[in-house]
Amino acid sequence: YRTIGLIGAMNEEIELLIKHMEDVKETEIAGIVYRQGRFCGRDVVVCRSGVGKVNAAVCTQILLDRFAADAVIFTGVAGALDPALNIGDIVVSTECMQHDMDVTALGFARGVIPYEKTSVFAADAALLDLAWASSEKLFPGRTKRGRVLSGDQFIASRSTVRQLHDELQGACTEMEGAAVAQVCAMNGVPYVVIRSMSDKADGSAHVNFAEFTVMAAENSYRIVEDMVKRL
Ligand code: ADE
Repeated sequence: YRTIGLIGAMNEEIELLIKHMEDVKETEIAGIVYRQGRFCGRDVVVCRSGVGKVNAAVCTQILLDRFAADAVIFTGVAGALDPALNIGDIVVSTECMQHDMDVTALGFARGVIPYEKTSVFAADAALLDLAWASSEKLFPGRTKRGRVLSGDQFIASRSTVRQLHDELQGACTEMEGAAVAQVCAMNGVPYVVIRSMSDKADGSAHVNFAEFTVMAAENSYRIVEDMVKRL
């Protein structure tokens, strides 16, 4: 890869990347600041998409069009759906899907985008293997490969967690991954999402999110750092 795009949704998710970058040049497009520079000896572009799928989609398309990113890594925090995951644990995306895409009234299954050839966007196998290896090295026994479910909702209910896990087979839930994944798929660019759990998307999620986001964002950063060194 010549230029690696690194995206986080919130400040906490990109601040360590920015801190460790060199030769930084900033450009603002559509209200998003793109930081081109060097990170772990590689050419990267770091950006904060903002929260939600629209922000993530716009951010990603600009990253590909204007900064010629030829690989995209998303780093950040998520709510756990798999009951085996604890706060701080890691999910590396095998694939991403929008859990809030709902055209069931017309007979489409939940999560299915009508008339598209797929609604489940597979991560790049090579990026996934690298992310998995880095995560298992740094956080042994605390990493799962799985489906990342994205929606424009902060999930904070046990019953929703059970539904997203049982019906849509999600390992974790967040608000950007599937948008990044879909834009990458539409452009033929490889991607992977790395998420560390800030909460369990249950009744304590808002408290846990506030307490554990910095720690979880750092876990995800450390995986990206280790991974980029071996790209
Ligand atoms: N990001 C972190 N925790 C989340 C949750 N519970 N729902 C949606 N996005 C999240």
